[in-house]
Amino acid sequence: MILVTGGLGYIGSHTIVELLNNGYDVVVLDNLSNTSIDVKDKIKKITGKDFKVYIGDILDKELENKIFKENKIDAVIHFAGLKAVGESSVIPLEYYKNNVEGTLHLLEVMKANNCKSLVFSSSATVYGAQDIQPLKESAPLQDPTNPYGRTKRMIEDILKDLYKSDNSWNIILLRYFNPIGAHQSGLIGEKPNGIPNNLMPYITQTAIGVRDHLNVFGNDYKTHDGTGVRDYIHVVDLARGHVLALNKINKDKKESKGNLDIYNLGTGVGYSVLDIVNTFKKVNNIDVPYVIAPRRAGDIDCCYADPTKAYKELGFKCEKNLSDMCKDSWNFQKNLNEN
Ligand code: NAD
Ligand code: UD1
Repeated sequence: MILVTGGLGYIGSHTIVELLNNGYDVVVLDNLSNTSIDVKDKIKKITGKDFKVYIGDILDKELENKIFKENKIDAVIHFAGLKAVGESSVIPLEYYKNNVEGTLHLLEVMKANNCKSLVFSSSATVYGAQDIQPLKESAPLQDPTNPYGRTKRMIEDILKDLYKSDNSWNIILLRYFNPIGAHQSGLIGEKPNGIPNNLMPYITQTAIGVRDHLNVFGNDYKTHDGTGVRDYIHVVDLARGHVLALNKINKDKKESKGNLDIYNLGTGVGYSVLDIVNTFKKVNNIDVPYVIAPRRAGDIDCCYADPTKAYKELGFKCEKNLSDMCKDSWNFQKNLNEN
């Protein structure tokens, strides 16, 4: 049985679909701070399988202990946390409490219940600004420049120290690049609260008419068309990466090996903001009005992954392309507005 914290969120919900489809049983802990309980029924509809959800907080050790007592948890996939970069500079204490303290509580309960297998949601943000692209896991980390990013960096350090102190743990840190897209069914996807910060939800809301136009933040970057380049990855490919990570942990455990591994989950290809806008318009046959706006503070020219290590050691390979990402994001947005 796999405990999935934050399992009803954007990446968690897609991961649960892949886990259930691959024969894993799951139990979820989510405080519903950034999702709703109806995601459970949508997952059930997609997979035809049911699972238990505990509504509560990773800061609540009593509840976490109860989950361990009531279920035989073999491993944890830890998604729960706050993730809005801008907001993290406004309410940093909430970010450190939720993300760092929440993770500490979870680790204490895992240790007390002798569960030492963990997959953690880290982020490409831990690399900070780097001169050399694509990014390898071995790149020396730079300051992530915002409290959200620092929580990820701190949790990575905590997990590295934990493994050093007891190398019977099996820990995998997955550094996600830019997840977009949605499940092909259109039932689950990313539902941002308020005005979206990230590019794809802003594009879909502009296309549907909720937003007047997209602001393209800067066209004077050192990239092929001057707009920022990122490594966009389909959320279903990203979700599959978690199943592969768990498979690796299970293999290591069978051989009585502990490990701490770090993997980039990206496609290895960088696309610019205008590549995304133009592909979205073309594959969905819909207009996305945009204006060129000033650069956004804190943004970098270019960031994309070297996914070789995940391919070699996990067998991770992206199956979906940019057209799929744009089509599936649009399909989910249209479904949201119809329901
Ligand atoms: P999300 O907000 O959709 O999902 C997080 C889930 O955790 C939500 O369902 C929320 O209700 C729950 N949650 C938050 N705080 C909690 C707490 N204290 N206790 C219990 N549940 C709590 O976010 P997501 O996009 O699915 O991201 C999942 C993880 O991946 C996060 O840790 C995020 O930082 C990380 N990540 C996301 C991205 C991205 O672009 N989406 C990129 C890199 C890393
Ligand atoms: C941001 C976060 C990162 C987080 C990631 C996924 C920062 C500095 N980094 O990455 O920590 O892991 O989201 O949640 O915020 N853009 C526009 N117009 C918009 C929105 C975005 O032009 O309205 C551009 C940006 O300038 C950037 C690209 O689109 O070039 C992608 O932006 P975004 O989706 O916000 O992701 P990142 O900034 O890469």
